[in-house]
Amino acid sequence: MVNVEEKHTRREFLKFSALGLGTIAATPALIAGDAPPSMSVYGSYTKNRVGSLAQLKKAGEIDFSYPDGNALCKAVYVNNEVKAYSIICTHKGCPTIYNKEKALFECPCHFTKYDAKKDGQMVIGHATGALPRVLLEISGDDIFAIGVDGLIFGRINNNVG
Ligand code: FES
Repeated sequence: MVNVEEKHTRREFLKFSALGLGTIAATPALIAGDAPPSMSVYGSYTKNRVGSLAQLKKAGEIDFSYPDGNALCKAVYVNNEVKAYSIICTHKGCPTIYNKEKALFECPCHFTKYDAKKDGQMVIGHATGALPRVLLEISGDDIFAIGVDGLIFGRINNNVG
């Protein structure tokens, strides 16, 4: 048998649950992930030449630094596509090692692995996010870095390193 006080508690719970669902339904932007645009993706980046397309297709990878000399990055050629990432692990900042055969960036510190074919998405490990993606522009045979999508480990702003 349920006493009056328990009924009141259940009623309040249901009322507040409905109120909570109504609030979430009224804010579809939060559910859809429509966060305000990140200023760090395009703001204040320089356009730096990474290398040539022919060189990348032949070697499969090109090391470079972006947006400054302290930010180690790697361009890779996978599935007939050019992609580039910060190689700094998003878990605790160790430099990852690129496994060309598997197209994985592998962290030697705590073994997180990131998929180079899938925008640097974490496959397994301790990290909670993907590798920051270096945005590229290809002009003829030249590959240029033009921005970074994601925060490089240890920075409060990708342009301050
Ligand atoms: S620093 Fe890379 S997995 Fe911990």
